[in-house]
Amino acid sequence: MRKIFVIGIGVGDPDHVTIQAIKALNQVDVFFIPDKGTEKAALRDLRTTICERFIENADYRTIDVDIPQRATTGGYLAGVDQWHGRLADIYGRLFEHELEEGEVGGILVWGDPAIYDSTLRILKRVRAKGLALDFQVIPGISSVQVLAAKHCIALNRIGESVLLTTGRNLADGFPSEFGSVVVLLDGAQAFASLGEPDLDIFWGAYLGTEDEILISGKLADVKDEIEAVRRRAREQHGWIMDTYLLRKSDPDR
Ligand SMILES: C[S@@+](CC[C@H](N)C(=O)[O-])C[C@H]1O[C@@H](n2cnc3c(N)ncnc32)[C@H](O)[C@@H]1O
Repeated sequence: MRKIFVIGIGVGDPDHVTIQAIKALNQVDVFFIPDKGTEKAALRDLRTTICERFIENADYRTIDVDIPQRATTGGYLAGVDQWHGRLADIYGRLFEHELEEGEVGGILVWGDPAIYDSTLRILKRVRAKGLALDFQVIPGISSVQVLAAKHCIALNRIGESVLLTTGRNLADGFPSEFGSVVVLLDGAQAFASLGEPDLDIFWGAYLGTEDEILISGKLADVKDEIEAVRRRAREQHGWIMDTYLLRKSDPDR
């Protein structure tokens, strides 16, 4: 039986790696490192930093995993399903050829594996194809938690609920039945087109890294600034990851 640790490593600050993650890192024989091309090279470097800093015995192996592009034609869900099928084939082949029976593999997941990450879905597909695989999840600190911590806010207001969603979903309008809405994966700045007149935004980019940027305020007052800052930062670094929380303006703020 091959074992895979799926290890949440936080979103940029190596100090956010947990003791449980460090223990798991030190049991891994082979790390499978997704290579998503030049745009994400900075993220790959952070994963490498974590291995070098926390692993005591450097005799582990590292295998780069070529991640194919997801088809953008056809329906979104069908495209994702087909892409996950290809990824399951790629990972399955690599586990069979690069990991001996009884060895331990490691996949380092950005943030927490439970939040907008498909590693666990893909591993379940690998297992469904017949490869005997045991996997264990090590939770990590998510961009959502870092966003709240850096803005010194709680995600929820008292007794209210919180929605985690994507920019793609927010483009359909602000879901006002939720007290607070945390938005990830928004490449199109959906916040800028919202019709709601009275929202606060807490925005963060490169959270946990030395390039971190934080902006907060009334959405109407700061949305142009966020768009301009975001555009400049993306040009400067060649990539950006940003997350934000929206909620109805607090009269006592
Ligand atoms: C594929 S999801 C992965 C989320 C990750 N599993 C987590 O727990 O944060 C990628 C999205 O997470 C958010 N994100 C990840 N790292 C971030 C960071 N350092 N700063 C701001 N947002 C980040 C962005 O919204 C990005 O589009």
